[in-house]
Amino acid sequence: MADTDGALRTAICLVVGSPIRHSRSPLIHRLFAEQFGLALRYEKREVAPGSLAEAVADYRLQGIRGINVTVPLKEEACALATVLTPRAQLAGAANVLTFESGDVLEADNTDGIGLVQDLMNHDIALAGQRVLLLGAGGAARGVLPALLAAGTASVTVANRTASRADALVSAFATLGTLEAAASDASFERPFDVLLNATSAGLVTAEGPPLSVSAVGPGTAVYDLVYGSRETPFLAWARGCGVVRRVDGLGMLVEQAAVAFTRWHGRQPATAPVLAALRARL
Ligand code: ATR
Repeated sequence: MADTDGALRTAICLVVGSPIRHSRSPLIHRLFAEQFGLALRYEKREVAPGSLAEAVADYRLQGIRGINVTVPLKEEACALATVLTPRAQLAGAANVLTFESGDVLEADNTDGIGLVQDLMNHDIALAGQRVLLLGAGGAARGVLPALLAAGTASVTVANRTASRADALVSAFATLGTLEAAASDASFERPFDVLLNATSAGLVTAEGPPLSVSAVGPGTAVYDLVYGSRETPFLAWARGCGVVRRVDGLGMLVEQAAVAFTRWHGRQPATAPVLAALRARL
């Protein structure tokens, strides 16, 4: 195929962040594209904090269709967009940027919907359930509106720094039943669903400190973190006798599927891509 023909037909998308070398997004999007025989170039770009606006202006000139955004640029991405989806506005952070005609740049946040979809894939119900969300940083903020929209009976936010949990609860108080708790609090009864949205498992071998009273045999435990080995948080849950334990690889694939559908108008199957990804971890 001639280069010029290919250039006309090939969609170009990017993932940006810092560091970006570890990103699995190119593989995920390539596997999605293969499902439809779609010509897609999907590349990683290292972008330093503070320089996203400049990079994005350049990407528009290059004819890029869409950009996935990862840490630490999600808030910056949200701030420079001209149009925000309601869920990006709620989160104050975006993981998907889409170029539209004129100067329009749309920001979306598909992390929450990705998490909810992956919980559904694992038959972990949210409607009517008592949920404990561990963490009050960007990741927690990104998924909290989707948890509330899924009809949870209540969401308790526990965080090492209590003031951040309080702030998150205040910010979303009108969207559902929410309360803050100290992360070392004891709980009267186990939660139905426990979610780790801290980065603790990434930086310490022990995972986040949490009272064992938060979990029981019926609790489903989900770690937004994933890795080639069991995460420290899921190892802790196993030690507490929790049977249903899931890591965040499926969420990564599901949030990517929403972005792919937005950019290419086709909804990819996620299960085979998750299996392929798991095999390569
Ligand atoms: P992210 O975008 O990944 O959420 P962040 O905004 O820096 O990153 O938030 C990190 C989260 O992990 C916070 O909830 C943080 O708790 P604090 O608000 O107390 O800092 C939590 N976290 C990080 N390391 C932790 C640790 N060792 N123990 C407990 N919580 C930790």
